[in-house]
Amino acid sequence: MALAPASIRGSFSVDRYPCASFSEARPSTARLSSSLFQGIRLVFAKETMNSRSFTRADLHSRLCARCAVLESVSPTSQGDMTLVNVDLGDRSYPIYIGSALLDTPELLQRHIKGKKVLVVTNTTVAPLYLDKVIEGIKGKGGGVIVESVILPDGEKYKDMATLMKIFDKAIETRMDRKCTFVALGGGVIGDMCGFAAASFLRGVNFIQIPTTVMAQVDSSVGGKTGVNHPLGKNLIGAFYQPQCVLVDTDTLNTLPDRELASGIAEIIKYGLIRDAPFFEWQEKNMEALLARDAGAFAYAIKRSCENKAEVVSLDELEGGVRATLNLGHTFGHAIETRLGYGEWLHGEAVAAGMAMAADMCVRMGWIDKSLQSRILSLLERAKLPTAPPRHLTTEMFRSTMSLDKKVADGKLKMILLKGSLGNCLFTSDFDPKALDATLAAFCDK
Ligand SMILES: NC(=O)c1ccc[n+]([C@@H]2O[C@H](COP(=O)([O-])OP(=O)(O)OC[C@H]3O[C@@H](n4cnc5c(N)ncnc54)[C@H](O)[C@@H]3O)[C@@H](O)[C@H]2O)c1
Ligand SMILES: [Zn+2]
Repeated sequence: MALAPASIRGSFSVDRYPCASFSEARPSTARLSSSLFQGIRLVFAKETMNSRSFTRADLHSRLCARCAVLESVSPTSQGDMTLVNVDLGDRSYPIYIGSALLDTPELLQRHIKGKKVLVVTNTTVAPLYLDKVIEGIKGKGGGVIVESVILPDGEKYKDMATLMKIFDKAIETRMDRKCTFVALGGGVIGDMCGFAAASFLRGVNFIQIPTTVMAQVDSSVGGKTGVNHPLGKNLIGAFYQPQCVLVDTDTLNTLPDRELASGIAEIIKYGLIRDAPFFEWQEKNMEALLARDAGAFAYAIKRSCENKAEVVSLDELEGGVRATLNLGHTFGHAIETRLGYGEWLHGEAVAAGMAMAADMCVRMGWIDKSLQSRILSLLERAKLPTAPPRHLTTEMFRSTMSLDKKVADGKLKMILLKGSLGNCLFTSDFDPKALDATLAAFCDK
């Protein structure tokens, strides 16, 4: 029997686990709940259910594969973990989200392949979490050898010279084809370690342990990896999917306030491009996020990962819809590049970029002023900038934006908002005069 989307509504039993049942939690996700999992919830991306025709046997085998992993995992101390599946056929992988997951090493151990592991981290994160991760992996037994490389901290080190330190360590310690690279840190470490894993010996296993909001809601999901070039951000890289992503929300407790806010910019982005109810939830819960309320963060991370997983499942290599995840990034990358990497945080530049994109859309009559006000107000409440530094000139924006990866056949394509909250377009079909006017409004000259 083929399960059409409609038949997923309601619930049905899964033969081997009679107490497991599907029920539609929201239009966009289906949730498997089961007393077997003692609070562990499985959330499958919408596409798993809707975009293909699934037989009961298909679902059964998928569930059994997941159950086999989860059954032997002891519950975390909070007894609550969410799992978001990134559905990419045979390269699908789980994102585990929860408190104290670094204290649940079985999760990590299950995805370690081979006998050699290289943990890549930086000078800030290493003293906080490296020992715990190494101990956790070693606990797998069987003579697994864990090496680590500690890189200097900062976006300015997201370059080829620093990348080479990962390869140096991997070669010195004789990492082989079956080894696993583990990224422990924020987006910079994740992007660099992922690119190293994609290219070392033409590709080795890769696990992400993201420790910033930015990395937990965005950069660790979807397989984009790479380094910067002095002339442009992320210009050198590869698509490379991890085996799993392990999000321990407790790691956010050590994150500086400014970094926390930077990651919230990407959370706001998901609401704007495709999830109006999530944006409205943020309007009600922004102060809870800033206060690091664990429940609010768990929800925001889960909803962000679901949104990203859905988009990536539809368009892994960014042929179309995936580009919408770059709302505000064309302006934002220009800000980051012109100020010098690291001067403004990525999310800060994206926040100003989203404000500039909204300004352009109002000028073209694509969105109402009232929506623009809501966007600016939420960004301000998140303590994020809503304009670039004034000393950046229109010429600086233009020349940097012309190097943007979204330039095709000499034409700049942008992600722009159109219509009601939650709708956007990826298009080159916009009024260039609106772009001129926006740049003129935000730059002194
Ligand atoms: N691959 C993607 O799809 C994607 C998406 C978004 C952003 N990115 C990239 O991610 C990078 C930005 O990531 P980021 O904002 O995480 O920056 P980051 O990696 O520089 O981390 C921010 C700072 O927080 C520190 N830190 C990390 N975890 C910590 C913790 N738990 N406690 C205390 N300090 C901690 C880091 O050492 C660093 O100083 C950019 O390079 C951006 O291009 C990539
Ligand atoms: Zn981003």
